[in-house]
Amino acid sequence: MDERTNTDSWEELEHSCRGCMRCPLGQSRNSLVFGTGNRHARVMLIGEGPGEQEDKQGVPFVGPAGQLLDTMLAIIDLDRTKVYIANMVKCRPPHNRDPEQLEMDACSEWLDRQIKLVQPKIIVCVGRIAGKGLLRADLRITREHGTWQERQGILWMATFHPSALLRDPSKRPDAFEDLMVLRTLIRDNCPEVYDSDE
Ligand code: URA
Repeated sequence: MDERTNTDSWEELEHSCRGCMRCPLGQSRNSLVFGTGNRHARVMLIGEGPGEQEDKQGVPFVGPAGQLLDTMLAIIDLDRTKVYIANMVKCRPPHNRDPEQLEMDACSEWLDRQIKLVQPKIIVCVGRIAGKGLLRADLRITREHGTWQERQGILWMATFHPSALLRDPSKRPDAFEDLMVLRTLIRDNCPEVYDSDE
């Protein structure tokens, strides 16, 4: 961030983020998982944090949950060229445990700056951890998934994490409903996402 002009750039953000050692996860990472996708996307997805595959490859959602996420996107005619994907924490928590508050706090500046640079119209919190971290600390994903709210000109929603859908397929119809609403919101608020296909 240039303090004099108060402007930011992807180059500067990525460079400072890649050197981050603000929390202990920086010591144990193999790769820092910065984010991927379209930096001008109207829709941004925010997950929890890298797992084993993501830590190896440096790209978010490339393991089994990522494959399901790609399928979920395809159901509503989206793919990684149309969305930007990031996580609450950029380094893998050991043994895939939930990221701790201290780790999410240490990492939040990077995500905030990514959101400001992308300027999405819609943000989907992928899973309980992102929903609690970004929407409300006491959010209950089973009750509040698919509920939309507007904040600072952005539409926000939390839905089930694909890992949760892999563990418990009975949640899939609810996740499907959330996707249908997401598609409608995209059509109503940023039709260019779909128009660019034509
Ligand atoms: N789960 C997440 O929340 N993010 C990833 O990048 C991979 C798995």
